[in-house]
Amino acid sequence: MNYKNPDENGYYGEFGGAFIPEMLYPNVEELQKNYLEIIESEDFQNEYQDLLKNYVGRATPLYFSKNLSQKYNTQVYLKREDLNHTGAHKINNALGQVLLAKRLGKNRIIAETGAGQHGVATATACALLGLECIVYMGEIDIQRQAPNVARMKMLGTKVMAATSGSKTLKDAVNEALKDWINNPVTTHYVIGSVVGPHPFPDLVARFQSIISKEIKEQLLEQIGRENPDYVIACVGGGSNAAGTFYHFVNEENVKIIAAEAGGLGIDSGKSAATTLLGTLGVLHGSKSLVMQTKAGQVIEPHSISAGLDYPGIGPFHANLFKEKRAEFFSINDEEALRSAFDLTKLEGIIPALESAHALAVLDKKKFNENDIVVICLSGRGDKDMETYLKRLDDGSL
Ligand SMILES: Cc1ncc(COP(=O)(O)O)c(C=O)c1O
Repeated sequence: MNYKNPDENGYYGEFGGAFIPEMLYPNVEELQKNYLEIIESEDFQNEYQDLLKNYVGRATPLYFSKNLSQKYNTQVYLKREDLNHTGAHKINNALGQVLLAKRLGKNRIIAETGAGQHGVATATACALLGLECIVYMGEIDIQRQAPNVARMKMLGTKVMAATSGSKTLKDAVNEALKDWINNPVTTHYVIGSVVGPHPFPDLVARFQSIISKEIKEQLLEQIGRENPDYVIACVGGGSNAAGTFYHFVNEENVKIIAAEAGGLGIDSGKSAATTLLGTLGVLHGSKSLVMQTKAGQVIEPHSISAGLDYPGIGPFHANLFKEKRAEFFSINDEEALRSAFDLTKLEGIIPALESAHALAVLDKKKFNENDIVVICLSGRGDKDMETYLKRLDDGSL
């Protein structure tokens, strides 16, 4: 099975497609018709690759983590997306989509953000390339990721609060979609993950696939073989995971592990573990697994990490789950916090709370001594310092 690319209608197995209101047809069709030709053109690739190298700072290191390897008695490598300009993998996609929008003749950019990393990345790309930028963000996330809100403002972006529902990522996506419906001609919606109507999941996965392309090259250089035994990444909508898995999904000998946000626990009613709690449904323009009631009402998710606090999952990942191509772990808030403090103590790296969910898999699964285990460290923890400091101060960790 080809797990990497969707079919011509945007389906990964039974998941994907484009379920959109009529008002959005022209925009989405324009993208579907043009995205591959534009992003594969020499002119686009020259500009994009140059920016990735000289502006973003790629290639990011593949770092052999000696201390984690010792602790877990296996070979742990960290793909350091935290070292990208703006502090996470999100910039790989934001820059690509803003360059694409320019070539489509758009002069206004909108985006949604949860943790604020995608918002900052999009605001940054718009500052660099001279486009107007508006970012929708849930009211709760505006509070818990305040440093990123400040960065967006300084970058000249207007941050609009989403005040409905759980006031988090899902609600920000709803507001962005509403804006797009109202401004179809001038505006491109830079979706921040492998979600949304076709072609967004494929478009975002392609921009993030640089992560696994580099892992292959770096492993070859460092250990003489391209493929690890395991790749591990956290999944909100699933863009850093899609990028980390992309060049490995069709290689049978590489095992794939995704970490979802368990929140306060699967049975607590406060969770965001979509593969365990979700059923087939349509959310934000594509058919996938969705946390919903029997009547199809979306269930409000919960995670300590704003970037994983989402009741859906990209169709790419829903298919990996259904086909048992990937193993999914549910990581609770407390487990993620412990892993964040562990990495900080052992390696002097403060990870984003989202990335800490991927690290926590090391406590859940036993790896062999010689296994090469690559974990995507999707972002840095600057934005999460308030949460971390609270835990340091109350002495519970
Ligand atoms: C550092 C970091 N990692 C992971 C995520 C989750 O998004 P995705 O699943 O699309 O990689 C986010 C989202 O904001 C993030 O900021």
